[in-house]
Amino acid sequence: MCGIVGYIGQPRRAEEIVDILSLLEYRGYDSAGISGINDDGCKIIKEVGSISNLRKKIPQQWSVTNAIAHTRWATHGASTLQNAHPHQSLDKKWIIVHNGIIENYKELCSRISACANISPNSRGGGTDTQILIEYIANKNIDTFEDFVKLFQDIKGSYAIICQNTQKPNELYIAKKNSPLYIASDKDNNIFLASDPVCFSKYTNVYKTFNDNEFAHIHDQKIFIVDSELRPIIKESSKLKDDFVEQTKLDYAHFMLKEIYEQPDALRRQVDFYKEQKILSKFNSDFLSRFNQIKLVGCGTAYHACMIGVKYIENILSIPASAEIASEFVYNTNVFEPKRTLYIFVSQSGETADTIKALNIQKEKGATCIALTNVAYSTLSQQADYCLPICAGPEVSVASTKAYTCQLSALYLFANALKTNEDLEKAYNNIVELSTKLFDFNIETADKIAEYISSKRDAVFIGKNFDFVTAREGALKIKEITYVNANACPSGELKHGYLAIVEEGTPLVVVATDEELNSKVFNSSSEAVARGAVEIVISTDDHECKYLIKLKKINPLLMPMLSIVPIQYIAYKASILKGINPDKPRNLAKSVTVE
Ligand code: F6R
Repeated sequence: MCGIVGYIGQPRRAEEIVDILSLLEYRGYDSAGISGINDDGCKIIKEVGSISNLRKKIPQQWSVTNAIAHTRWATHGASTLQNAHPHQSLDKKWIIVHNGIIENYKELCSRISACANISPNSRGGGTDTQILIEYIANKNIDTFEDFVKLFQDIKGSYAIICQNTQKPNELYIAKKNSPLYIASDKDNNIFLASDPVCFSKYTNVYKTFNDNEFAHIHDQKIFIVDSELRPIIKESSKLKDDFVEQTKLDYAHFMLKEIYEQPDALRRQVDFYKEQKILSKFNSDFLSRFNQIKLVGCGTAYHACMIGVKYIENILSIPASAEIASEFVYNTNVFEPKRTLYIFVSQSGETADTIKALNIQKEKGATCIALTNVAYSTLSQQADYCLPICAGPEVSVASTKAYTCQLSALYLFANALKTNEDLEKAYNNIVELSTKLFDFNIETADKIAEYISSKRDAVFIGKNFDFVTAREGALKIKEITYVNANACPSGELKHGYLAIVEEGTPLVVVATDEELNSKVFNSSSEAVARGAVEIVISTDDHECKYLIKLKKINPLLMPMLSIVPIQYIAYKASILKGINPDKPRNLAKSVTVE
């Protein structure tokens, strides 16, 4: 994962480079660092933990003309100062920031003499990036051409920016399977970053690096080539305005702001789809090309896929399945791939497993739709069609508004494939739904948060749509409260999960389907008989310790409504436990490694 930044241009306060880097914190916050060059030479500053820790160490007067910076999510090597980027070669000549994984780093290590000090087996335990920069240093590279050729030896994924301390006006860049963007402002200052949102303060025009492209920046000129050193001329893209805004406003955390933004986000999506006629190409003729639909994603996006399957099967009566991307890549036996429509669901559009799954299916000739929140993301660029979700920037690690927008996009999409009339009704349904998202008792939700935050485990149950909400709810609780929350279909409770239940175990029962509720409550009573405390989210009255009563609505829309109180409860429980819900431990917003 990780995020990288590069700068070369007029003297600029290093603090400003750190500000740019902070826009990438969603990609990891285990450690951060910056290397800056000015007339006095080169200085590297790093710190463990979030970028705010690094910021405290940056001298106010430090101004730089050439800088590279990094925020890390540890993959190889622990989250220590030693493993923080930028890394400098032992001969002090080369400095690197790297996002990705060098797969053959052990082999590279065995080929260089400096290996004894930095080997992954040595006491220092060199990371893949440390070994790469040593490899570069050991190859005695003189020219940019040598740098490009050296990458024939490198296997893995990388977005790399290198400084050469002997050439303070230059940067060397390589990119494969990790995103990287470049921009220059009106004064010809050049910026590089893992996300073009970083440039928004300086310019909204940027260029995207493709895989196996390299760049040399020297004397304020950008020279881009492919792996055969053939020059490449690149088109510019423009950043959409809504990706610029990333402030908490008056909210204590991004997560709370994002939970409360959901009604607006849903309406914005409907307006955008109507104005831009986003769904006009997805009609019954389009559908007739396929005999099945597969939805692929990870984590919360996978839960959106599970609901999407139910929409497709209910509305269109065509077979559909939801697939976890990291597992689906091993499924080599898809029946009639050319007659299969794939929908890859991803908030970021940068999730490595989802991108890999897409590439495998594209090679087989399948039609691929990317349903993402980031129009310029890798997934969007590689798919045949894009379905934007219009949630606006989602900063908090725990996905909230992206999830409800994913569900609404899938609901609208399924209706579009049926008839225009159904689509018009679906638009109205979403707009009406958006007015009801917070029609639940907040005080009860606060009490539930207090109860859950005091417990080690929690069990979530539901049936059909409500089972998916139970899964997504349990994931939210687990991610930001560290309570071991597990979800199962209510019918599975007595096939194993009941063993977890002891006196006081919170049992979150999602029961919003009139026809199924009595069965769900039968299961929950078996857990109550063994000491579980029922927390019920239901359209029905039910005698229990905590009840969040929801209005009855169209069952297809219910998953967008019933998840909101659970998101809120997870947020509150996280705060009660003293956890920062925007940055829970061990996680990152964008998971760009397999
Ligand atoms: C959960 C969460 C993760 C993501 C998953 C996929 O709150 O945010 O489970 O849903 O990492 O990320 P995207 O949607 O960016 O592919």
